[in-house]
Amino acid sequence: MQVISSVQDMQRLADSIRRSGKRIGVVPTMGYLHDGHLSLIRIARQHSDTVVTTIFVNPTQFAPDEDFKRYPRDLQRDLGLCESVGTDVVFAPDVASIYPNGYKTFIDVEKVTRMLEGKSRPSHFRGVATIVAKLFNIVKPHVAVFGQKDAQQAVVIKQMAKDLDFDVEIIIGPTVREPDGLAMSSRNAYLSSEERGDAVVLSESLRAAGELILSGEPDCGRIIKAMHSLIKAKPTVKIDYISVADALTLEELHELRKGDRVLISLAVWFGRTRLIDNSILAIQ
Ligand code: PAJ
Repeated sequence: MQVISSVQDMQRLADSIRRSGKRIGVVPTMGYLHDGHLSLIRIARQHSDTVVTTIFVNPTQFAPDEDFKRYPRDLQRDLGLCESVGTDVVFAPDVASIYPNGYKTFIDVEKVTRMLEGKSRPSHFRGVATIVAKLFNIVKPHVAVFGQKDAQQAVVIKQMAKDLDFDVEIIIGPTVREPDGLAMSSRNAYLSSEERGDAVVLSESLRAAGELILSGEPDCGRIIKAMHSLIKAKPTVKIDYISVADALTLEELHELRKGDRVLISLAVWFGRTRLIDNSILAIQ
């Protein structure tokens, strides 16, 4: 496994892999890898000859009051995990090589960045779209794999790739969960044991919403209310949002109709830690 930190070296390697007729798959991450990330690397393996995992805690997607500084980092551990699942190349640049002095260009994907996460984190997707576009230009992948865990991010990246004519196939891998249902996240490391216990309510409330919908409940207000009361019963929580929206446009829905593809998503604070989760359902 090669480890590369220079943008130019990565571009040269990508050029030579492409010239030899091989397919490049990329899995962009911010490191502190867990089984969710590793599942995406395995998916990339199935769709490409050379798998590049990128590890970069991207400062432009964090607001000044967010956790950029304390975001967990452990490159040595990450390299071992990457190698164990068949990564060929790790691209781990430093901030100065991605955003040198005088850096001025950012990508704004309209509409789908404004709701849900975008309401609470207004500059977040500008940073995400920008770094992902840059990584596409550096790694030159044929295929890129992202997680359903960040459902809105997946929608934003697909929109950006389409609008900017990136010749990259975007694949979305399913959310990997702990045995009790909590979606894996690098931020789970922040949780105290009480908060960790309470955090299971994210997946529990999604399951309850799914059961309500399956039993024929069409009223999104009632679905949200049921999730709300389940979550509020936990002592360490503060709800940011709960949403029932169209899975493609991310517009809020009021009443479910047959044929709808619905994204149920939520963001909840457990003490100082903000976690998100979601599920997608097809209404029968
Ligand atoms: P990060 O949070 O490290 O996640 C990297 C990738 O792993 C994303 O595509 C994310 O959706 C996916 N992922 C996270 N938890 C997962 C889980 N439990 N199951 C399956 N996939 C999971 O998302 C980012 O980094 C950044 O925004 C990035 C795209 C790298 C741009 O900086």
